[in-house]
Amino acid sequence: MTEKEAREKLEKYGQVQVLRFFDSLSPKEQQELLAQISETDFSVLTETSNAEKKDERVITPIKVMQLPEIEKKRDVLEEKGLDAIRKGKRGAVLLAGGMGTRLGSEDPKGMYDIGLTKPVYIFQRLIENLQDVVKKAGCPVHLFVMTSEKNHDKTVSFFEQKDFFGYPGDHVHFFKQEMVPATDYDGKVYMEAKNRIATSPNGNGGWFSSLDAAGLTDVVDKEGIDYLNIFAVDNVLQRIADPVFFGAVLESGSECGSKVVKKNARDEAVGVMCLKDGHPSIVEYYELTDELMDEKDENGDPAYNFGVILNYLFSVKALRRIVNDRMPLHVVEKKIPHIDENGELIKPEKPNGHKYEKLVLDMVEMMDSGVPFEVVREKEFAPIKNRTGKDSVESARELLKLNGYEL
Ligand code: UTP
Repeated sequence: MTEKEAREKLEKYGQVQVLRFFDSLSPKEQQELLAQISETDFSVLTETSNAEKKDERVITPIKVMQLPEIEKKRDVLEEKGLDAIRKGKRGAVLLAGGMGTRLGSEDPKGMYDIGLTKPVYIFQRLIENLQDVVKKAGCPVHLFVMTSEKNHDKTVSFFEQKDFFGYPGDHVHFFKQEMVPATDYDGKVYMEAKNRIATSPNGNGGWFSSLDAAGLTDVVDKEGIDYLNIFAVDNVLQRIADPVFFGAVLESGSECGSKVVKKNARDEAVGVMCLKDGHPSIVEYYELTDELMDEKDENGDPAYNFGVILNYLFSVKALRRIVNDRMPLHVVEKKIPHIDENGELIKPEKPNGHKYEKLVLDMVEMMDSGVPFEVVREKEFAPIKNRTGKDSVESARELLKLNGYEL
């Protein structure tokens, strides 16, 4: 792309400030910036306003597969799930492309050591959880790890350096998610260097298209994997490739399963499973009105009582159907390092702009059917978002200890 073409493209989207330092750059740096302008899709920044518009659909309760029902048929479900694993039909996808800004570490979140008397890295905890199933099934599960441009190299070398924490390395596949520009509150793209637009990972909802773009759906096909279990990097207690969950989704014949836990307060800040216009969906806590929060089901329990924990199972066939569908981008307020008008690097202490993210929860409602599957909160939900306080290293340590883990 020439400078003239770049200028025209930027003018169209009101982003000419990107070329502010162009004349002071070396020819090589100029080429780098022109290439980035050429690759960047600025239109996504203008489409978000639609994505954020008010949802008019009618919300009604969804039937959740709850613990008493699961307990009654646990053995049968587990056997079904183990059978699918043994036939190589299940894969797992670790979403580790996030920036973990709240935890405040320079390294990928999974490299964080939560141990007290010995090292216990977050990645290690997750692999150990997965190993429980591998031992039971007697065969490994393919693990796909999503990283981003910002943390890929560190993540891969950490796994290699730790010898994959005992997991078979030929069953671990890394892929990078896509990036989108980050902007100030007026939608103007920030620069992270004079020759580089500030970008951030495009959210956890782009994982399947990124897996596909990386050519890893070939592995999925070759191995005959027909369902993928996706999970977040920061829940150190979750069961991964859980055969009981697999069995339940199989039995329900659904395209998607969502692990859920009972909410700990009527207004807890978690997404809640529901039906929107009769279709399985997730309602965000800030969309849940007082009226809905207080609604009761036929047993007198809260009708919207189950929050998602970012552990889902998706049918590969269904994922292929939606892979090219446009997903909405959500606007998220974040701290964005950038250079100012004088070219000085600023590392903000508080949020200073917007990042734009696709979210997995939108994928749930793109599926034709879905089953919410309850798990015991104290045994499967210990998210680490912050260093201290709520959903933190401290709270996760307490929960791990309660479950008998040595730290
Ligand atoms: P969070 O929403 O907690 O975001 O991610 P984050 O970026 O990790 O952390 P903060 O908000 O900056 O503190 C939930 C899960 O989704 C993954 C994360 O790695 C985590 O497993 N994720 C998030 C991605 O894989 N890519 C993204 O672009 C965003």
